This record gives sequence, C-alpha cells and structure tokens, in this order.
Amino acid sequence: MKHKTRFAPIFLTAMAFVTPCIGQEAPVGGQGLFEKWCSPCHGVGEAASIFLDKKYQGAIPGVIEQRNDITRELVTLRIRTQIPGMPAFRPTELTDMEVSQIADYLAGDKGK
Ligand code: HEC
Repeated sequence: MKHKTRFAPIFLTAMAFVTPCIGQEAPVGGQGLFEKWCSPCHGVGEAASIFLDKKYQGAIPGVIEQRNDITRELVTLRIRTQIPGMPAFRPTELTDMEVSQIADYLAGDKGK
C-alpha cells in the first residue's frame, strides 16, 4: 500500500506536463491526422514510401498521398488490421471518425 502514495505525486506531475501538450497538438482534419500518425512512415523519403516504391517499381508513387488509386476501404483495412511493417491502430488511438477523415483525405481528389 505504501508504494501507491509514493508514486501518486510523480504521476500527477507527469500528467500536468503531458495534458497541455496533447491539447496543443491535437491535429485537425484528415490531413493533420495523416501528418501525425502516418507521415513518420509514409512521408517522402520515409521507410514505408521507400518500401512501396520498391514494391511498385515506379508503376505508381511510393508516397501514398500522391496516389490516385487509394480507396477508403483500403485505408480503413490497413489502419485496423495488423500487417508486417505497419501496426494496426486501436480505436483508443484513432477513433472511427478519425479513420474516416484520413480515408476521405487519402481517397479524396487532393487536386488530382
Ligand atoms: C510504422 C510505420 C507505418 C505507419 C505508422 C503507418 N504505416 Fe501504412 N504502411 C507501412 C508499410 C511498411 C506498408 C507496406 C506494407 C506492405 O505492403 O507489406 C504500409 C502500407 C499502407 C497502405 C497500403 C499501400 C499499398 O499499396 O498496399 C496504406 C493505405 C497505408 N499503409 C496507410 C496508412 C495510414 C493511413 C497510416 C496512418 C494512420 C499508416 N499507414 C501508418 C508502414 C506504416
């Protein structure tokens, strides 16, 4: 029981720092969500883009934001189903609404 009281102040101090940061960085819209959750792998020159470039051999861009053939179904499937190289995102990380926004962004026309 003693250890609980010892850790409580540490936890509260940590939360005091973490909470405002989350508030400030909350991304807005599909593009903002993509930049936060997907760009570390799917940005230009990042690991997934390099992987997909090799896979498609120049037939289509490795950067998924530059593609015209991405469907909402593929995005939803990839976000929710674990595959080697890409983690699945739980509803506590990305809600169905947020997944839908990202799917709209990637499947949308983005000025094609
Ligand atoms: C940890 C790195 C990583 C993160 C983060 C990540 N992905 Fe991926 N993603 C990959 C890799 C690697 C592949 C290729 C897997 C394969 O084809 O075997 C992939 C494949 C995909 C594909 C399928 C592309 C194709 O042509 O088959 C889609 C769509 C996709 N990711 C969307 C997303 C979205 C949307 C997010 C953000 C919510 C995201 N990914 C976050 C690594 C990542």
